[in-house]
This record gives sequence, structure tokens and C-alpha cells, in this order.
Amino acid sequence: MTAMIDQASQLRSLIRQQRRPRASVIAITSGKGGVGKSNVAVNLSIKLASAGKNVVLLDADLGLANADVLCNIDLPFNLSHVIARKKELHEVMVTGPGGFKLIGGASGLARMADLTDFDRRRIVEALGAVEYSADNIIIDTGAGISPNVLSFTRAADQVLVVTTPEPTAITDAYAVIKVISKDRADRHVSLLVNQVRSASEAKLVHERVAKVAKNFLGVNVLDAGHMVMDDHVRRAVLRRVPFLLASPKCAASFCVTQLAMRFEQGIIPSADGGFFNRMGKWFKK
Ligand SMILES: Nc1ncnc2c1ncn2[C@@H]1O[C@H](COP(=O)(O)OP(=O)(O)OP(=O)(O)O)[C@@H](O)[C@H]1O
Ligand SMILES: [Mg+2]
Repeated sequence: MTAMIDQASQLRSLIRQQRRPRASVIAITSGKGGVGKSNVAVNLSIKLASAGKNVVLLDADLGLANADVLCNIDLPFNLSHVIARKKELHEVMVTGPGGFKLIGGASGLARMADLTDFDRRRIVEALGAVEYSADNIIIDTGAGISPNVLSFTRAADQVLVVTTPEPTAITDAYAVIKVISKDRADRHVSLLVNQVRSASEAKLVHERVAKVAKNFLGVNVLDAGHMVMDDHVRRAVLRRVPFLLASPKCAASFCVTQLAMRFEQGIIPSADGGFFNRMGKWFKK
């Protein structure tokens, strides 16, 4: 009997040792819409996948989902089928260009704001199931501070806020940082400045936001870098081929490579506990 117990405990510790580390979860969000989140999410997913990572991209902008459009993928099923318990998550995941796995949002479904706690819990439960089979889970949250967007930013290890240098986008980015940071124990978010003419233009935007956020919110806004304004992006969107694949040597592709490297090096220290655990805590509030 004692030998059997010893064997069982040895087996358990072997399984624990073999268990791969859980995925790092990055939520990509913004205050103002149309600043480039989905393009960053799709191309960052492709870049990380090309580096051999197992990447899952969740298009969480339900109702306005468009990662599938950017990638020219026909999705027979999407998250709405998972929520409705008609499909399991692995059944709605499709392989995107460059090898990442896409979980399509549910265009035509009620807006994220209309989802119930129960629906959100279904999404989280389903994501919890892929946490240990992926290296990175990237969530395109959609814009704004709806409860649904916040549920994903709360649960993510890293929140990447995207802005452009326009004053309206910066003001909205700050508003989002203010709300997001309230319930992030690590008091960290990172900022990517998109559609800039130069790295120095982005630096100025970052410095301004970081200074105000530090002084008034006590929040560290880390510098995730920049993406230049590059017409290859618009042209790739029109062709429905992600720019990293359509024009791998363009300036925007170079910026995505830099962003991927920053994430690999870990601009933000990882939080403890799994996605599901952190999300679960929020639901218990
Ligand atoms: N670096 C860039 N250079 C040039 N154009 C860009 C760049 N980034 C984004 N764009 C343009 O902005 C448009 C909107 O980008 P995208 O759909 O990624 O934004 P979004 O933040 O996901 O929008 P939404 O809030 O509606 O989900 C693109 O179709 C493209 O034309
Ligand atoms: Mg989008």
C-alpha cells in the first residue's frame, strides 16, 4: 500500500515537472478606436509564431471582430458557438497566416457590452483550457472601457495600450490607463505609439503619458516602442494580407519585429497565477 502511494506521488511530481509553463497573456487595447490594435495583434502573432512560438490570438472585439478579415480567413465557427456551448474552443480555432491560431470574434453577435457574466465566464473557461498548450495568448480587446474589455485587461499578464500621436487618442489612452490600472496589482501597463513619423515622436508621447500617469495615478507606463506610419499597412489591409507577410521588409514590419523582441525580453514582469485563476478572482468580487 505504501509502495503504491509512493508510486502515485512520484508520478504526480513527474507530471508536474513535465507540465509546460503557462502562456503569457497579452491584452492589446486602446481608448480611441481605429488606432491600429488589430493590425498590431495580427502581425505580432505572426511574428511570434515565426519565432517558433505557439500563439493563440483571441479576437475579443465581439460584434466588431475583424482579425479574420485582416487575414482573409473564412471562419465557419467563432466564439459565439463556444459561448452557446455548440462547439469546443479547439473546434473554432483555425490556423492563421504564418501559423498562429485564431479564435474568431463573433461578428453579428451582440456587442461585447451586451455579454452576460455567464458568457464571459464561458470564454474564460475555454481560454483556461489552452493556457498550458500555448506560449502566448494575444487578446485584441476592442477599444474603450466597457466591462468586457476590462475583464480581459484584468486577467492579462501584460496590457499593451495602443495610441497614435493625436491629442484625442492620447487623451483616451490616458483615460483607459487610469481605469485599467485601478485593478492591476502590478501597477504596470505598456504603451505603443502607432502611426508616428519617427521614434523620437513616439518617445515624446510616451514621456508625456508616463509622467502624468506616474504623478497622478502612481502607475508605471512602460515604453513598448513605436510603429511608424507606413502606407504598406493600409495597402496590406486592402489586400487582406497581413503586412508582415505582404511586405516583410517594410518599416512597419521592422517595428513589429522590435515589439516582438521586447515582449520576448519581458517589458513587464509576469504576474502570478493562471489566466483562469486571475479571471476567477475578478468574478468573485
Ligand atoms: N502604422 C500604420 N501605418 C499606416 N496606417 C495604419 C497603421 N496602423 C494602422 N493603420 C491604418 O489604420 C486602420 C485601422 O487599423 P486597425 O483596424 O488595426 O485599428 P483598430 O485599433 O483595431 O480599430 P478598431 O478600434 O476599430 O478595432 C488600418 O486599416 C490602417 O489603414
Ligand atoms: Mg480592431
